[in-house]
Amino acid sequence: MNILVAGSTGLIGSHIVEELLAEGGHRVCCMSRRGDTGNRWGERVEMRAGDITDSSSVERATQGINAVVHCVQFPNHPIENPRRGWTYLEVDGRGTERMVAAARKNGVRRFVYLSGAGASPEKTEPWFRAKAMAEKAIYSSGMEYVILRPSWIYGPEDRSLNKFLFFAKWLPFVPVIGNGKNKVQPISVFDVARVAAKAAIDPKATNRTFELGGPQELTMDAIIRTALKVAGRRRFLLHQPAALMKLLASFVQYLPGRPLTPAAIDFILMEERVDSNDAEKVFEMKFVSLEEGLRRYLQS
Ligand SMILES: NC(=O)c1ccc[n+]([C@@H]2O[C@H](COP(=O)([O-])OP(=O)(O)OC[C@H]3O[C@@H](n4cnc5c(N)ncnc54)[C@H](OP(=O)(O)O)[C@@H]3O)[C@@H](O)[C@H]2O)c1
Repeated sequence: MNILVAGSTGLIGSHIVEELLAEGGHRVCCMSRRGDTGNRWGERVEMRAGDITDSSSVERATQGINAVVHCVQFPNHPIENPRRGWTYLEVDGRGTERMVAAARKNGVRRFVYLSGAGASPEKTEPWFRAKAMAEKAIYSSGMEYVILRPSWIYGPEDRSLNKFLFFAKWLPFVPVIGNGKNKVQPISVFDVARVAAKAAIDPKATNRTFELGGPQELTMDAIIRTALKVAGRRRFLLHQPAALMKLLASFVQYLPGRPLTPAAIDFILMEERVDSNDAEKVFEMKFVSLEEGLRRYLQS
């Protein structure tokens, strides 16, 4: 099969490419706005330039492809920057619509999409609505689809859990936004990538939507403490009240580079429960606990 991974240079996309290469038997094509300069795999993959804000470029990128795995996210996520078009609506919503239209036009058979936990058109937050918009375009495209709705993903190059470990390296404390009691189900990027790679080819997954989360529902404090333990560091957690941080963000959002916005704080603090039972059954996997997942790369 000719499989195109859109978002191949990102956290999840790069691991999906690794999985597909390890599995063998497929021609793996990688889409990046940077074309060849985004290539980490040399001649084992075919790099294709593509920008989901530009229909003609994604039409070129999807030519001759049998399955698309779509995992694109705007830079500096979750901090939106409307001036640059880096918003949920533009990238997750309209961008996915463009990708779906291009894939359909080129006769792509199967579309795998990295959506998000809690996607729904009924909710007010733009991240839920944009993911729902993308899912709708996929459901009505006529292509075979697999929708994956992961919870919070961690891994060697993530920009969330690694930030806490970075603070722990340089500071005697780890700053935490909010009271640290918000709960998520962290899932390893290795598990998510394996699921996505299987989803591209496994007929049992066809036309299904799966929630993905790790086996434990943990508070943010528990997650950071586990990461500190595995990394062999002892630090105290310094909580920053969410209301104060939102007030601060309402000012710093106007600074160059937009370091923080009030909406990004809402995103960071959101809680969405997921049920991974179906995914574990269909893909014949057991997702690893946070501690086991962290040991895989923090202690190697
Ligand atoms: N990370 C999580 O915890 C998490 C949880 C749930 C769902 N998800 C979903 O999983 C997907 C992937 O997330 P991620 O964390 O892997 O993102 P990421 O690490 O930020 O990677 C984003 C990718 O998108 C590409 N990209 C950005 N703008 C683009 C554009 N205009 N056109 C084409 N490609 C573009 C980037 O490639 P270039 O810069 O090379 O073009 C990069 O490869 C997203 O849909 C996200 O919502 C992530």
